[in-house]
Amino acid sequence: MDNTREHYQQAGLTDRIYSELVSAGHELDSLHPDDLAGVDEFHLGGRMATDALLADLGVKAGSRVLDVGCGIGGAARTIACSTGCSVTGVDLTSAFVATARDLSAAVGMADTTTFREGNGLDLPFADAEFDVVVMLHVGMNIDDKGALMKELARVAAPGGTVAIYDIMRVGEGDLGFPMPWASSASASFLASPNDYRSAMVDAGLEPHEAIDRLELVRTALATASEHPPPVDLSHLMGENWPAMFANLRAALGAGVVSPTQLIAHRPPA
Ligand SMILES: C[S@@+](CC[C@H](N)C(=O)[O-])C[C@H]1O[C@@H](n2cnc3c(N)ncnc32)[C@H](O)[C@@H]1O
Repeated sequence: MDNTREHYQQAGLTDRIYSELVSAGHELDSLHPDDLAGVDEFHLGGRMATDALLADLGVKAGSRVLDVGCGIGGAARTIACSTGCSVTGVDLTSAFVATARDLSAAVGMADTTTFREGNGLDLPFADAEFDVVVMLHVGMNIDDKGALMKELARVAAPGGTVAIYDIMRVGEGDLGFPMPWASSASASFLASPNDYRSAMVDAGLEPHEAIDRLELVRTALATASEHPPPVDLSHLMGENWPAMFANLRAALGAGVVSPTQLIAHRPPA
């Protein structure tokens, strides 16, 4: 857990993002959530992957939504903007939670998105508090998938939904490090789609088939290289980002890992 915090913790993050935006010609007092999408959607496929997940979810304006491991809050803001609902984000990394709050305030979304520090294995919420629980690119940091799925299922209401979009292991082979989620192998815990589905079933959830999002990710990467966003993940993760991303691309290309969406329902009471 400490390894994970250390890997993501960044000093002066909000100021760094603001300074890049200003250099790219943006006015800080008229920022829009779209201006942040290159940096605040910290998962493969970025905004495009969040939109694809959302299209499969059926979130309504009155839905209570939790984003576990919300990072700096991009997916939470996208879900709140697209659906009109309020979203709560929770994350282990205090600097990310602080930046998530700063950015929501900057784009006028402090009322519809709230963020707090917390651990996905011991969520600071009551049983059945949320209609929809999402978790994007976090499971790679958590070894005990059984305990994780039980905790996500606990806070989902009966009849509610648990939706995961993680990098999962789909083939044999070693990974190079650093990766975007871990500086070394000792902090990386990949599992296969079948392992995730089994953990969901053991937690009392009913999972759909897993959906591989590699093609969507290729499209999103091609779009980003044609139209680079004003801020990107190098501004979030710092000087090690090129090495992290090169290692991830190699693992994707070798068929060792793939970005995978998995949605499950908690049966009605
Ligand atoms: C790759 S980032 C993804 C952030 C965000 N979900 C997104 O897609 O933009 C992984 C995030 O998971 C958080 N995280 C890792 N382990 C966690 C845990 N046990 N509980 C809560 N958050 C955790 C990290 O702090 C980091 O913000």
